[in-house]
Amino acid sequence: MAEKVVRLPVVDGLGNTLRKDNWWVGPLVTFCVLTGFVVYATFRAFEGTNYAWGPYLSPLASPYFETKDLGIPLLTPAILILPFPGLFRFTCYYYRKAYYRSFAMTPPACAVGARSPGHYNGERKLLLFQNLHRYAMYFALLFLVFLWHDFVKSLLWNGELGFGVGSFVIFLNCAFLTLYTTSCHSFRHLVGGSVDSYSTAPLGMLRHKVWSWVSRLNVNHMAFAWISLFGVVLCDVYIRSVATGAIQDIRLF
Ligand code: FES
Repeated sequence: MAEKVVRLPVVDGLGNTLRKDNWWVGPLVTFCVLTGFVVYATFRAFEGTNYAWGPYLSPLASPYFETKDLGIPLLTPAILILPFPGLFRFTCYYYRKAYYRSFAMTPPACAVGARSPGHYNGERKLLLFQNLHRYAMYFALLFLVFLWHDFVKSLLWNGELGFGVGSFVIFLNCAFLTLYTTSCHSFRHLVGGSVDSYSTAPLGMLRHKVWSWVSRLNVNHMAFAWISLFGVVLCDVYIRSVATGAIQDIRLF
């Protein structure tokens, strides 16, 4: 028996919809949070100072390169670093959905009228660069090495082992960034893709096991994307606050 095709009514005009739920809350919150993050990151990038205190280093300027002696106006350690994680997030498959909806509104949500309907070109033309995501992921993996190295350094207080609140904050940031990066769709493809048969491929069974773990993480990629974004800001705010003297770090042992 032929299946009955259900056609949803077409809605014209930005925001017009037959939906009765609060569909606009998600795009609005996304717009506010991402705008807030961009404003904060831009401020910190140009501030050019307070990236480190004691054994702590902010993730916004890690790995740290001193830029004062280069004599390039406006160049700061954070400006050197931020394009790499920035490109990773900007080209992330999840974030694309989020900001296409909340900023471009093409459309703002499922079954809601879009801005300029009929003019969406997909990820061609200007948006072709989104295909760089897998290369941005390679850099993100490298940056994880630097960030975990920063965590180990945060435990060394003048050559002695110690642990402060800042070490804990840095640890959380590293953990959530690791979850975000290893739940990435491109990482999943890296560990388990391009294989016709795991049972005959070199290291096939091991790859299948890793791919299964990554697939389980991948289900929660959206959550890791948001938590890790807040984690980066929290970590930087904490280190900046102790560096400026606004608060004092507490050494737990
Ligand atoms: S898909 Fe989101 S980081 Fe790769």
